[in-house]
Amino acid sequence: MSWTIERIEQVFLGYMEEHGHAIIEGHSVRSPTDDVLFTTAGMHPLVPYLHGDEAHPAGKRLTDVQRCVRTTDIDEVGDDTHLTVFEMLGNWSIGDYFKETSIPQSFGLLTGEFGIDPHSLYVTVFAGDDEVPADDEAPIIWERTFREAGVDPTGRINPLGADDNWWSNGPVGLCGPDTEIFVHVGDNEAPAFADIPEFVEIWNNVFMSYDRAEDGSLTVLDQRNVDTGMGLERLAMFLNDHTSVWETDELALLLSEVASALAVDQSSLDEDGIRSLRIVTDHLRAGLAIAAAGIYPSASRQGYVLRKLIRRAVRHAELLRGTDENLADVLIECTQRVSSVMGQRWPDVAPGEGGAAARETIEKETRKFSRTLRRGVDHLTQEAEQGTVFDGDLAFTLADTLGYPVELSAEEATRIGMSIVPGWEKRYLELREEQRARSRS
Ligand code: ALA
Repeated sequence: MSWTIERIEQVFLGYMEEHGHAIIEGHSVRSPTDDVLFTTAGMHPLVPYLHGDEAHPAGKRLTDVQRCVRTTDIDEVGDDTHLTVFEMLGNWSIGDYFKETSIPQSFGLLTGEFGIDPHSLYVTVFAGDDEVPADDEAPIIWERTFREAGVDPTGRINPLGADDNWWSNGPVGLCGPDTEIFVHVGDNEAPAFADIPEFVEIWNNVFMSYDRAEDGSLTVLDQRNVDTGMGLERLAMFLNDHTSVWETDELALLLSEVASALAVDQSSLDEDGIRSLRIVTDHLRAGLAIAAAGIYPSASRQGYVLRKLIRRAVRHAELLRGTDENLADVLIECTQRVSSVMGQRWPDVAPGEGGAAARETIEKETRKFSRTLRRGVDHLTQEAEQGTVFDGDLAFTLADTLGYPVELSAEEATRIGMSIVPGWEKRYLELREEQRARSRS
């Protein structure tokens, strides 16, 4: 039987529930805190509880599936592993159990329920630095856990420094040493653990027991927590022996639905075409999740990210189709199909009432932008044919007079091989600032 996303989710939550965890609802992708735009990890909405400021109403052992956005990943979308919205399977001990329970519990799920050969598992632990001593408990617990499963632990438990085995959600706040679990992909046991693609990191168990203040100082928390996170799509990729998250059931279905709405034949796409199809699909999926959090396209903060996602989806859809005829209608059909597939698990983007608000947000921006796009692209193409270089002045003119946004024009200029003047962004920002000052005066 294949490991569908839904089955993985059920198995994970079921196992954690059997081990005393209450299943809670994930938070929306809108950040629960003001310091960042989006929810970046499963622990993010749980900060007050992990910090010990409040008791969580569901108890001290919690588990959920959290949709997360890490904006730094957006430009990587189109490759085999990055998604704008990814889901994190997590379990927490809020001042309840610690390493002795967390490590065998994680091992038990991976090797039991998920059936991973324990001989393919390798772990890293915190080696210590000049602030915090090495974690000498985790290696002992790991050693015992491996031995009890009949596996020789030699070479499997690898101490690494703070760059690898210290986790924090930003420069200040909750943090702690962690232990990361890797699987070796291949038929045989590995001679030694190494930082190479054959070792796939699947799960992070953070022993969250410190707090970093603004001045950089570190204090030990009154309560010792465990915070774990496992990427759902990456786990699905691994459990099904795939090499891309886009081969896993839900994302593969989304791709084929979007391809069919765009009337493109996936099997005839070249590398750029595959990337574009993944971008359209990913950006509509993420766009729906972000819009469902009550965010609207705008020129700043979360709204800017949403606007960029929708506009890029429109542009890449046009590239794939080779025409802008009925572009908005086609994109709206794509959005509906994404809503149907994702709505099976995400009620706030589902067809019908549930996802109506999110779909409407995407549809409005799609219609608006589809009209602008063609004029911008044509203008840029003409400039390129005349040998014009892409600089801050051109980027500004396109944005200001044609509404062709800078985040797309720069990407398009690169794509069509224009030479890009170094430092163009600075000039663009100067011109934009001057214009803002003029409109204020
Ligand atoms: N919070 C930890 C992570 O995101 C588990 O990796």
